This record gives sequence, C-alpha cells and structure tokens, in this order.
Amino acid sequence: MTTSTKDSATKESASNRDTRLAALYDRLSSHDLAPYWAVQSDADHDEDGQVLKGSKAVPYLWKYSHIQPILHEAAELISMEDSERRSVVLVNPALAPVRATVSSLYTAYRLNDPREIMPAHRHSINAVRIGLTGDRNFTGIEGEDITFGPGDLVLTPADAWHNHGNHGDDFAVNVSILDLPLSEFLNAAAFEHDYTEDNAVKAEQSARYDADYSHRTYGTGGLRPRFVDHKRGTGLHSPMYVYRWDETRSLLEKFRDHDGSPWEGISLEYRDPATGQTPFRTMTFFGQMLRPGEKTLPQKQNASLVCIAFEGAGATIVDGQTFDWQPFDAIAVPGGTWFHHENKSDKEDAILFVASDEPTLKALGFHRRQGRKEDGSIVMLD
Ligand SMILES: [Fe+2]
Repeated sequence: MTTSTKDSATKESASNRDTRLAALYDRLSSHDLAPYWAVQSDADHDEDGQVLKGSKAVPYLWKYSHIQPILHEAAELISMEDSERRSVVLVNPALAPVRATVSSLYTAYRLNDPREIMPAHRHSINAVRIGLTGDRNFTGIEGEDITFGPGDLVLTPADAWHNHGNHGDDFAVNVSILDLPLSEFLNAAAFEHDYTEDNAVKAEQSARYDADYSHRTYGTGGLRPRFVDHKRGTGLHSPMYVYRWDETRSLLEKFRDHDGSPWEGISLEYRDPATGQTPFRTMTFFGQMLRPGEKTLPQKQNASLVCIAFEGAGATIVDGQTFDWQPFDAIAVPGGTWFHHENKSDKEDAILFVASDEPTLKALGFHRRQGRKEDGSIVMLD
C-alpha cells in the first residue's frame, strides 16, 4: 500500500470512528446513560471534570438594606390569612431555582407583625432562629414558650411542634437557618400541620414547661441536673432550646485578650450541654468575634457556611472576591473556597454568627479543613 492510500484509509477509519461514537452518544442519551471517559481530548482529566459538573453554590452577599424594606412590604401585602408563612429566602444564584443558600443550608428572614402568632407545625427538618430586631420574638417548641431578642439562638429540632410569632407591640425580625436542602436531597423532607391537643386541632400549643426551662436547666456550664429527662423529642439534638446572646457575648468578651485562632479569631461553638455534641447532627453554629483591626488567615474547607453579620463592619474575602458586610447582612461561603474575614474597624468589634454543615461532613468522613500560615505554607486544621 502506498503512503497516500494508507492516509486515506486512516482518515476513513477516523471518520468511521467519529460516526460510530456520535451514534454511541445518542444511544447512551436515549437510554438515560452517560459516558465516563474523556470526550474532549484537549481538556486535562475531562472525564473527572464531567463527573464533578453540576450546580455548585457560589460565594455571595445579601444586604440587609435590600431585605428589610422587602420584609416590611411583604408584611403589608401578605396577611396571615393569605399565608401562614411570610419569609424571604436567600437563594444562591448558582443553585436557583432550588431554594438553598449554600448546597446544604437554607436561610430565610422573617418579619412578624406585633402580636402575630403563626399556627403550629412541624417538619423533619432541623432549624434555628436568631433574633435580629425586637425583643419579643416568640417560638413555642413542644410546650416551651420562648421569647427571644437580638442574638438569641432558638432551636426547632426535627419533628418538634412549633409556633412562630411575636409577643411584642413592635415589629420583630429574625433569621432562620435550616438543613432543608440536605434533607430534600436525601428525600427526607416532610411537613405536618394540624397540631392537636385533647383530640382537637389547636393553632397554638399550650405551655407544658416553664418559659425559663432551657436556660435554668442548661444555662450553667458544667452542671447538669440529675432529676430531669435530658431526652427531649427525638433525643438526636440538644435539649437546650434557647441559647441567650448575653452569655455568648460575655464569654467572647472574656477571651478578648486570648490569642484565639489565627484562622477564626475568637470563636465559640454552640453545643448540646447534655452530651457535648453539636446541637444537631447536621449543623453547628459559632459566635465569632473579630477584634478591632483583626484579620484572620485564609482557610479552606469542604464544609459550607452561612455567616450572618451581627455587630460592627467587616469583610469576608472568598476566592479573591471581597464582600463588605454590616449588621444583618448574610454571606454564603461555599465549601471548597479559600476565605478569610477582616474587621474593618480599628475601634469596634465585628461579630459574625456562623452556621456550618461541618457535622454532616464529619459524620460521613468527608470533612477536610486546611489553613494557610503567614509564611504561605498550608497546614491541615482538622
Ligand atoms: Fe418551622
């Protein structure tokens, strides 16, 4: 065979291969199958790139100055008769239309009219609420009536009946963080309404505990009453349903002169006081203080965070993007990004409330966290 004959045979067999491959891709697609091999030979590890393709949350900032007027207008337009819910959800633009702030966590702001109490409901999803404005936010949880103000953290664990509302005469705003996207992904999300007491449907639960129960039982670190049942609800979460901000703030203050962590500043983690575990199996929460002028060193982890700015003014820098924040702004820090925080003031503290899906990653053996040191070297942190 001459060279030119060989070339044309090669060309013909290459074109035959292309034709067969195109037909093969059509067959795969028509049977709802996907190839796991490189399709683009010019892209390094194209097959791995394809497997990792999918919707990933992006770093993002939601300004409270945008959210607040919307909350007030929604309160004017949507009455409790129109809907039992009236929340504004933070939707990560890369995950939309899925209502998720980062891949596993859902965040919603809510304004309650004075004296408004929503009917009781429960769900398979774990949730917390943090008071932002108003000192008479209300959540009744399985017979414990909790009134809360700015910075207080209230748990509504999976399957616990709860009423949300406001017992005050002023508007009250709070922010909720839920493991809803994770629960939905696992096909485990369910809601239930029509709370009953004595075989009758009731809008609001009757109190069965003293209003101060959580705090009195668990509010003193290192002491656990022996005469109460520490298994509340499913027993898979903290039995302490409210964590008061003044105690978190005062403990942060006590560590002001401590070195803290170069990657986190002074950070306190909320814990189940009965077991020392995280409040939920899925999510954990931190109160994080950045002292005047403090800048943390960059860290990268595969847990995803939602940070709610609570005091002061600062910035979170995520993969080179700077997000300037002030009170009640929210920042999405998706897993897999390098990020650090900066307190922009040289006089005032900056405080972040942070929610993380770290317990889920740890439980499944996925969690990795690394930090960059001053000299640029990288160390494993967890
Ligand atoms: Fe709820």
